[in-house]
Amino acid sequence: MIKLMFPAFVCVKEFLDKDSEQYPNMTREYFKILKDEMDNMRKLDPTGRNVSNSGGWQSNDGIESNPIFVKAYRTIKRVVANELVPALGLEKNSFNVTMHNSWGNMNFNGNFNKPHLHNGCFYSGVMYIRADGDEGNLVFVDTNHKVAGVFPPNPMMKESEIYSPRTGDLYLFPSGLMHMVEPNLTNKTRYSISFNLEVNGGKRRETIQNEHLEYEVNDKGDCF
Ligand SMILES: [Fe+2]
Repeated sequence: MIKLMFPAFVCVKEFLDKDSEQYPNMTREYFKILKDEMDNMRKLDPTGRNVSNSGGWQSNDGIESNPIFVKAYRTIKRVVANELVPALGLEKNSFNVTMHNSWGNMNFNGNFNKPHLHNGCFYSGVMYIRADGDEGNLVFVDTNHKVAGVFPPNPMMKESEIYSPRTGDLYLFPSGLMHMVEPNLTNKTRYSISFNLEVNGGKRRETIQNEHLEYEVNDKGDCF
């Protein structure tokens, strides 16, 4: 028996691609409206703030209360409530999801985000408002010592997971999971929103499939 210990649960949704039927309200037109609104926000607050970003523009917190963004945050909370938290073994509707703080990001040519954590939260996330996938990868880095000396390199133990996000992609990850954004080498601006959220309450589900994440492997090396 093979046991998977201490995994990081990351939820990935593609609202304009494979998840579009499940969330039909998240349309390309809506993402265009969000992009235009971010342009307006930057016009009103050209300086923004500087936290993990190296260059680029980052808004102050509070965009979750902008009426234009309400549908986006409601949808993100639905994903957390209906998919992410149940996958962590808690019963649906037994907890409350609260959006803690949220901000917008624009990365221009040469901009990147240094490796960082979102301290003091449970889960964090980023949703891409305008991106073609070539404006700098999103990289999650496993800081656990077990991956420091992986040899031989193998597909199941990795020090990093790399994504090339496109418009409509959402990533939800534990706030303590190290992540960074590679430099944008294009002349296109990437727009995204980031946020931290909190989950309170939560009743353990009575039956959890494969709670201990155990797998059998036969002598042919097949995993099941
Ligand atoms: Fe971040």
